[in-house]
Amino acid sequence: MLVVFGLLATVFARDAFFKVKKNAQFFDNVAVTKGYALDPNVSLALARESKDRFWAVHVWLGYIFCFLLVLRCVSIFESQKKTAPQEPRSLRLLYNLAYGIFIIMALSGLTLNLSANLNLSTDVHDWTHSLHEWGFRFVLGFAVLHLLGVLRAELGKQPGIVSQMIHGKKLQQIQNAAKKD
Ligand code: HEM
Ligand code: HEM
Repeated sequence: MLVVFGLLATVFARDAFFKVKKNAQFFDNVAVTKGYALDPNVSLALARESKDRFWAVHVWLGYIFCFLLVLRCVSIFESQKKTAPQEPRSLRLLYNLAYGIFIIMALSGLTLNLSANLNLSTDVHDWTHSLHEWGFRFVLGFAVLHLLGVLRAELGKQPGIVSQMIHGKKLQQIQNAAKKD
């Protein structure tokens, strides 16, 4: 989850601080205040390079995301063999849809990152890019809805649901253990 927050944060930070044209203009202005002029191609190249360096954070987080997603899918598969899912069917359906989109994000992200090595045509690259962008909108929407849902459950019918997610024990188990002590 923290990794997904990180990935979303890199997208917002890039849009806020690493716009190529805006930064190129900024470099030009700084150069003027220092008393020299930059070739416009140089300031554009500098702005592009700084954006690419920052975007490496997104790709690193992306690889961690892929690794954790594989672990999570294996653990879900294992636990479903042993016990039936505990959530209502509609919620499980939404979670499964979310996992489907996460897998699409992982595959499209990996493809985009390796596109130069894979010799992809521009059409395939552009298509994968828009798939990745649409997935981003879903992930954002899901994250907002999910946080509202969790908050509602925590304050309403399921107090302790957040700490339960952190330590993995059900509130019932904790209360029983406390009674034994
Ligand atoms: C929940 C997961 C993810 C989200 C929400 C996300 C979001 C985004 C967004 C919004 C963009 C910008 C699209 C644009 O240029 O406007 C992007 C680009 C990119 N993402 Fe992700 N991403 C995720 C996972 C990944 C993963 C797993 C990888 C691969 C390791 C990855 C690699 C990339 C690359 C290489 C680009 C640049 C594409 C290009 O400009 O050609 N992303 N991502
Ligand atoms: C501080 C932020 C977050 C909190 C406190 C939180 C809390 C929770 C809780 C309590 C559950 C269990 C709900 C249930 O039993 O039905 C859950 C499940 C889940 N969360 Fe989050 N969440 C957070 C952020 C996120 C984010 C950013 C994502 C990804 C976009 C995410 C994806 C999921 C998914 C896919 C599940 C279903 C897990 C499963 O049962 O397989 N969460 N979360």
